[in-house]
Parts: sequence; structure tokens; C-alpha cells
Amino acid sequence: MEKESIYEQVEAKIYAVCGGENNKIANMASISCLLNQAFDEFYWVGFYIADHDKKDELVVGPYQGTLGCLRISYDRGVCGAAARTGLTQIVNDVDQFPGHIACDSLTRSEIVVPVYNGQNQLIAVCDVDSVKTSTFDVVDQLWLEKILKAVFAET
Ligand code: SME
Repeated sequence: MEKESIYEQVEAKIYAVCGGENNKIANMASISCLLNQAFDEFYWVGFYIADHDKKDELVVGPYQGTLGCLRISYDRGVCGAAARTGLTQIVNDVDQFPGHIACDSLTRSEIVVPVYNGQNQLIAVCDVDSVKTSTFDVVDQLWLEKILKAVFAET
């Protein structure tokens, strides 16, 4: 199935599950599960949450996949770059990304999307890792940004 069609289906499932729920952790857990189930090559999908007790640091949140590292400072890795810049990061080959944090050597490419609440404050980043290089492009970026905005800008 085409990537677009898979996103259309998973988007509908995510809105059906998260539409009536405003608990962020519940929604992050459900989104991690549904994205992970939807795409064969996504083997790690999850959230790193902005830790307001420790400025400029992310702490692991709900995820599906192998063990992720617990904390990531804003100056490290792809997740840190997304949190620091507020912009989606697409990495075609993690070996070429300086400072990439290899929680699992299976990761070959990834996309990390910043997540904002209704006050436009960064609350988390959504990290999707693939076993293949060059899995993610602007199609993934637009769908993930749209879905995450729709769910978390309400909270
Ligand atoms: N890929 C991330 C690290 C987190 S894990 O791979 C789960 C990064 O470099 O930011």
C-alpha cells in the first residue's frame, strides 16, 4: 500500500482513539502503538518529553520498540536538534548525523517531529526510527506534523 494511504488510515484511527481524550500520556501511548503497527519498517516509535524540572533536557515517554535512552539533552542527537530548533529533523543515514545517539544499532534513518500544545509551547518530540536508510521524506513530515498538531494543540 502507498505511504499516503497508510497515513490516511492511521490518521483516522488516531483521531478515533485520541479524539475524546486530553491526557497527553494516554495519547502519546496510543499514537506510538498505532504508528508502529501501521508501517513495517518503523521499529521504534515514541515520545521524548520536555522536562520542565530540568531545562533543555528531554526524558523518555511512551514508546514502542527496543529500550530507549532515558534522557537526552537539547545539545545531543536528532531529538535534541528537534527540541532546540523547534523544527522537524529528517535523517536519511544516521551514520552521517554528527552526535546521533545510537540507542539501538538497528536504526538506519529517522524523523523527529516537535510536538506543541495549544499555547505553542514545546511539550515533546516524536521520534520514529526505521531499519532502512532514507525511509522518511516530506510526505512523512507533513502527515506526522498534521496528526500531532491535531491531537496535542487541543491540550
Ligand atoms: N535517535 C535518537 C535517540 C533516541 S533513540 O534512538 C530511541 C537521537 O539521536 O536523538
